[in-house]
Amino acid sequence: MNNFQYQNPTKILFGKGQIASLDKELPRDANILLLYGGGSIKRNGIYEQVTATLGDRKVVEFGGIPANPEYAKLMEALKVIRELDITYILAVGGGSVIDGAKFLSAAARYTGDDPWKILTDNISVKEGLPFATVLTLPATGSEMNSGSVITRAETKEKLAMGGPGLFPVFSILDPEVIHSIPQRQLANGITDAFTHVLEQYMTYPTGALLQDRLAESILQTLIEVAPKVLEDPTDYTAASNFMWSCTMALNGLISKGVPTDWAVHAMGHELTALYGIDHARTLAIVAPSHYTYNFEAKREKLAQYGERVWNITEGSTEERARAAIVRTEDFFHQLGIDTKLSDYTDDYEGTGEEVARRFTERGWKGLGEHRSLTPSDAEQIVKMAY
Ligand code: NZQ
Ligand code: ZN
Repeated sequence: MNNFQYQNPTKILFGKGQIASLDKELPRDANILLLYGGGSIKRNGIYEQVTATLGDRKVVEFGGIPANPEYAKLMEALKVIRELDITYILAVGGGSVIDGAKFLSAAARYTGDDPWKILTDNISVKEGLPFATVLTLPATGSEMNSGSVITRAETKEKLAMGGPGLFPVFSILDPEVIHSIPQRQLANGITDAFTHVLEQYMTYPTGALLQDRLAESILQTLIEVAPKVLEDPTDYTAASNFMWSCTMALNGLISKGVPTDWAVHAMGHELTALYGIDHARTLAIVAPSHYTYNFEAKREKLAQYGERVWNITEGSTEERARAAIVRTEDFFHQLGIDTKLSDYTDDYEGTGEEVARRFTERGWKGLGEHRSLTPSDAEQIVKMAY
């Protein structure tokens, strides 16, 4: 096991009715920016639950953060933060709204001339404006981590940022919020969380027995609850397990002491940037090709995953590993998620080359757990996914 440090300062308030705790958790004298998305919270009752508990605090609302939080929109919110002297951000939404809040938290304290550089210059944010979240969509884990992914339509870019100063102060996780989530987003959430675990697990054996079993247990739980959540989002047992699995998949715990990959996400982000494909779906497109292309390097873990998660006990290591990739792709299909780029766009020719060109331009010469996946490897993987 590799050496590691682990600190996660985010307080979690989990369960039915927890939105009412906002009153206790938010500072009385805070000057709050209530950040939200396209308006789902105004249709499903979450907005009422939130505002009912804010009391006489000063609150300014800023809505309209789109899925794949857009830089131009966030810059409008930054103007409001500066002009109205906002001291605290309350993000009510899914990963996009929460990621938007993280960017704003960093940008509000950024002293440089161009906040986009927080993303392009890989600035690790040590301190930001305090923010908290009310999660409305289990998927990204953003509610308990310090990462954020921001999109800029103007340049068709989608870049990640983060730092120890960007953990939410607290996050409210009420599984009942999933009642109103459309099937497409529920399937996305399951797929995203599932792939988060794979990115931190599907590497090579390092003797980290507990981390492996934690990762496998999250995958098994997601597989178990996925059909129940899709069939009946009001099934509280399924909803609560789904929500906590998504948070646990990316709150930093399972990656401690082990190598991580994250190349599926790197390639996936380009597909969202180029074609607007939902984040989770890009992962389902890239992952099967990625594991097939890097089969030799990942064979042992693929076979272990096949055996422990999918009960594939027959055949050689190679056969079990190959079968595990097939089962993974089948799982995505069962969720109603297509796994080829051509299922989403007719305009896919040249995508592999474009992804390679972008990686080269950014100096991303070696991705993956061995830092050895070159832009030309990424090109081949994306082409395999056409
Ligand atoms: O915008 P509104 O109207 O709220 O509707 C949203 C949006 O259309 C809707 N929704 C959310 N909660 C709902 C609901 N509809 C009905 N009822 C509810 N309770 O769902 C749609 C998608 O929301 P979004 O926040 O975009 O989804 P998700 O949580 O999947 O977030 C995706 C973003 O997170 C980034 C992705 O790249 C993408 O930009 N990620 C962030 C990560 C992180 N910070 O750690 C890691 C991930 O790998 C990912 O990259
Ligand atoms: Zn993801």
